[in-house]
Amino acid sequence: MSEPGAKDRTIAAHAGNHPHEHQGVVNPPVYRASTVLFPTVQELRERYGRKYEAITYGRDGTQTHRALAEAFTTLEGSERALVLPSGVAAVATALLGSLNPGDHLLMVDTAYEPTREICEGFLRRIGVETTYYDPMLGAGVATLIRPNTKAIYMESPGSLTFEIQDIPAIVAAAKQAGCRTILDNTWATPLFFKPPRFGIDLAVYSASKYIGGHSDLMMGILTFPAALHKTLGKLAHGYLGHASSADDAYAALRGLRTLHARLTQHQATGLALARWLAVQPEVEQVLHPALPGTPGHEFWQRDFSGASGLFGFVLKPVAMERVDAMLNGMKLFGMGYSWGGYESLMIRADLKSSRTAKPWHAVGRTLRISAGLEDPDDLIADLAAGLARLHGN
Ligand SMILES: Cc1ncc(COP(=O)(O)O)c(C=O)c1O
Repeated sequence: MSEPGAKDRTIAAHAGNHPHEHQGVVNPPVYRASTVLFPTVQELRERYGRKYEAITYGRDGTQTHRALAEAFTTLEGSERALVLPSGVAAVATALLGSLNPGDHLLMVDTAYEPTREICEGFLRRIGVETTYYDPMLGAGVATLIRPNTKAIYMESPGSLTFEIQDIPAIVAAAKQAGCRTILDNTWATPLFFKPPRFGIDLAVYSASKYIGGHSDLMMGILTFPAALHKTLGKLAHGYLGHASSADDAYAALRGLRTLHARLTQHQATGLALARWLAVQPEVEQVLHPALPGTPGHEFWQRDFSGASGLFGFVLKPVAMERVDAMLNGMKLFGMGYSWGGYESLMIRADLKSSRTAKPWHAVGRTLRISAGLEDPDDLIADLAAGLARLHGN
């Protein structure tokens, strides 16, 4: 339930809820199912004719998954969504649904590393060739398009180094050449960037991050125009067999209800930490899309309506043992390969193997912070003690 013209916060709070279809219960209940029964042969035939839209079998999702998809597409302004068991499942479905043997893919050099692994390990094996491009290439991406280029994949900001891409320029080049565009929009979420407004065909999300928000959920969401629903639904659920638990879809939808409040705080805390770090003598550079100096900051200002709490920073050169001492002693920042939860994280980023089009040249160590929901002053005190450990204190 959300009225036409409603603002994002209102949509996030209400879309996909139909309490009076569930005896007044506010949240759409958890419908767990493998078997779905049909009252008559006629209804069975009719519902199977609308498979992937209609509910016909548990693997394709139940009313709980549909409620999440409805809320998400309403918020994003897209037409359809698939709820998948992980963000990687959404990435793989988007790529496999857009490419055939003999096709060529343009992949941003700053893609999330497992996305690169799909290109190198799997797409290559089935005869899809990948060219990696500089995230700052913008309209220049047109020079890399070949007659068999079928898709251009973007991730903005870039994983670990946070470059913001000139998405309108890339989409224009893709449209000119008849290529499909895919965007990993996990960092911004539909609250801070809306792919359909920019003419992007497919948007990929790891809902394990900000959508879930509590570090206890694995889920992916893939959004796209209605015309692709049957083929992508068949690929994801019919061929790849992706199924996700209704309990997880419920948790993702509950996360969506508080996304705006959480992201507002993640943004404020992330900026407070980034600004503090930027003036510390131990820090060479802060990589935060909302701060001037980060490549593509001007595109962030133009295209995004906010920044989430994930950003990077580069230390001035210091022995690795000192960086380890800093990380080992953190009291509030955990070390873990995820982000977007209520708890703060900090991790070292190894960029040697994950850049080929534009090697990463920072002289010092690069780290990544996921700003959680703790008090920013407590987080800064923890960071200050951490920087002191760089000097052996
Ligand atoms: C930008 C980005 N996309 C996709 C994924 C994959 O999501 P999942 O871990 O839910 O498979 C991640 C996970 O870290 C990510 O950071």
